[in-house]
Amino acid sequence: MSGALNSAGEATPWCATVLTLYPDMFPGPLAGAVSGRALARRIWSLDCLDIRDHAHGKHGTVDDQPFGGGPGMVMRPDVLAAAIDAARAGGSAAPVIYLTPRGTPLDQSRVREIAAGAGATLICGRFEGVDERVLEGRGIEQLSIGDYVLSGGEIAALALIDACVRILPGVVGAAESLAEESFEHGLLEYPHYTRPRSFEGKDVPAVLLSGDHGRIRSWRRAEAEKTTRQRRADLYVGTHHESANTRAKS
Ligand code: ADE
Repeated sequence: MSGALNSAGEATPWCATVLTLYPDMFPGPLAGAVSGRALARRIWSLDCLDIRDHAHGKHGTVDDQPFGGGPGMVMRPDVLAAAIDAARAGGSAAPVIYLTPRGTPLDQSRVREIAAGAGATLICGRFEGVDERVLEGRGIEQLSIGDYVLSGGEIAALALIDACVRILPGVVGAAESLAEESFEHGLLEYPHYTRPRSFEGKDVPAVLLSGDHGRIRSWRRAEAEKTTRQRRADLYVGTHHESANTRAKS
């Protein structure tokens, strides 16, 4: 079950706590569609905290120049530590995660683990980064959503929350629509078709109109394997379909 139990033993919703300098960016797109409906139904909750509330001095400084020189500014460890400690003051089993292109790549299996827990406390950096000592000192997990650089962690946090929320129990109606999707079997998903049967001179593959569910299943499986091999050889090798070992020999 997702979420956690409160002191009265009641189930609490899966909770995303976001530490950011731009709280206005939340819930942003998460207010719409699947995640927005689930938020309204209290399947999950969102708590957004402004890191600047923990800044020092009358100017509300949160960053400073990097020791050793170089471009950009670095978020101060004392400011971020105060924000993290305030966010965790009530005690929580949720992991604390810093979104950064330097992090371990986020994948569907980590998404499933995070979604199965109490929630996540997400730190969104801006500038060049945050002081390493606060990450080490508080044992903070670092995750990246891809090999490209965003202007801050907010969009990465939105992506992580969306990926978790959509698999919380009760959020998506038809169980099979999750079971068949990309990554669930270590493969990318097969292609989809709907009406009209003929579009711009291209017909829907005949097998999908055959009514033969066994043949349809095999065709989809073969398509999923072909697409995964072509686009994501790294994923394909990592599955039971073909091991890195057999591949090297062939
Ligand atoms: N912040 C900036 N770029 C990022 C990325 N690729 N993943 C996670 N957080 C980020």
